[in-house]
Amino acid sequence: MTISHPSFGDLPQDRVIIFDTTLRDGEQSPGFSMNLNEKLRMAEALADLGVDVLEAGFPIASQGDFEAVQAIATLFHNQPDRAPVVAGLARSAPADILRAAEAVRPAHRKRIHTFISTSPLHMKHKLRMEPHAVLEAVTASVALARNHTDDVEWSAEDGSRSEIDFLCRCVEAAIAAGATTINIPDTVGYALPEDMARIFATLRARVPGAERVIFSAHNHNDLGLAVANTLASLGAGVRQIECTINGIGERAGNAALEEVAMALRTRANALPYHTHIKTENILRTSRLLATITGFDVQPNKAIVGRNAFAHESGIHQDGMLKHAQTYEIMTPESVGWAKTSLVLGKHSGRAAFRERLRALGYADIDDAQLNDAFRRFKDLADRKKTVFDEDITALVDDEIGRDHDRVKFIALDILAGSRRRARASIELDVDGVCRTATADGDGPVDATFNALRQAFSHTAELQLFSVGAVTEGTDAQARCTVRLEENGKLVDGQGADTDTIVAAARAYIHALNKLLVKRVRTEPASLSA
Ligand code: KIV
Ligand code: ZN
Repeated sequence: MTISHPSFGDLPQDRVIIFDTTLRDGEQSPGFSMNLNEKLRMAEALADLGVDVLEAGFPIASQGDFEAVQAIATLFHNQPDRAPVVAGLARSAPADILRAAEAVRPAHRKRIHTFISTSPLHMKHKLRMEPHAVLEAVTASVALARNHTDDVEWSAEDGSRSEIDFLCRCVEAAIAAGATTINIPDTVGYALPEDMARIFATLRARVPGAERVIFSAHNHNDLGLAVANTLASLGAGVRQIECTINGIGERAGNAALEEVAMALRTRANALPYHTHIKTENILRTSRLLATITGFDVQPNKAIVGRNAFAHESGIHQDGMLKHAQTYEIMTPESVGWAKTSLVLGKHSGRAAFRERLRALGYADIDDAQLNDAFRRFKDLADRKKTVFDEDITALVDDEIGRDHDRVKFIALDILAGSRRRARASIELDVDGVCRTATADGDGPVDATFNALRQAFSHTAELQLFSVGAVTEGTDAQARCTVRLEENGKLVDGQGADTDTIVAAARAYIHALNKLLVKRVRTEPASLSA
């Protein structure tokens, strides 16, 4: 049996649509905001990963969100075969829907995703609307969206805590008005797997027209059940899964794409569904997101954590040596972990470097970026015995998307030690003009940040400074994250270098450049999606 969908044509029964909302539900959570350039890089990576629908943002939320959705809708214009469906989120108000329609217009395949709350709690306290008015809004919003695209998704916010009879009436209204996907979110992460399965089974059995639409699951992870709820929903007939890379999203996050995709692949015997995810690209996409946002996943995170395929205990190592499947249910290579990450040295040339970048997934790096990255690689290879893939990734991610930075790092000198107050002298390029400053501080990092504030005066305040190691060993590169706050706006910057203080300076400058890209976020009321 097949189901026909305006964007995907006839879909076989076992096909599961992967709807990625990293750039919407993920991006709207604290500390995860991305600028336009970063969103475009993530969109490219998500297309390479094979997601079917890419929710690019919430266009009415701000001019920046609108422009990002529009830019992503335009991004794949000359590559229709690679382009995912680009979705824009909208509440039920006409202004939201028209804004979303305008933003996704350039896409080959576009979707308007409109939602309204259907639970008694949300209707009474958040919307202050009577159920009959909500029902009318469902019909009106979907009908308006359908005037702009054939592919319309309707979501029942707080669906899992809604009264099932009312939910059935709302879903019926949405289908009658032309919705092609019906999404039931567990907005607050309250449901158990059996709750979600029961809700979908009831809707599919009771709502007229249910056989014509695709049902979709959107689960939050407040009780750590997002992936379990998602898989249980598949058993009840759901054929679209909403998820994010690394499970980022509101509060405890959303179902992690990599976990759902690998559960489907690894347990195909029990979960007879298929997706178009190229699982070998998972790690690269996860790392790109971590680099862009400055949030690494925890070491024991399933699939993409540093320890996910590491075997420490003697018994496990012994078993692994005898037969890998004794302790490994999937291969590291199947999600993109390389067999060995030891790669280049100081004698390696540009061609080998470019080749390695290709293998690491940086196929379309331009010549200027390649030159800058190669110069930094040579510099690194002079200082570091072995250069690992992770070093190269950190270094290239440091370069990409920084061409338009107004403030650039040139040099840093530090005097520090246990007998003296630290002193830093920094040299910056600001809009093409060289600026220098020297300052003292409580330790070399403090002195460096003071010098930076002198060389480029600004009011932003430091909120967070963290240091991690890219690889192991005392010559490992440090990867620093700096969070700055200015007028309520938070930005995170990253920097990597074998010298921790230089990495800190680079991270601070990265954050500063993000602040300079004005992205005024005018949060309308109830953007609680
Ligand atoms: O969690 C939620 O309810 C949402 C909807 C807008 C889909 O994010
Ligand atoms: Zn959500």
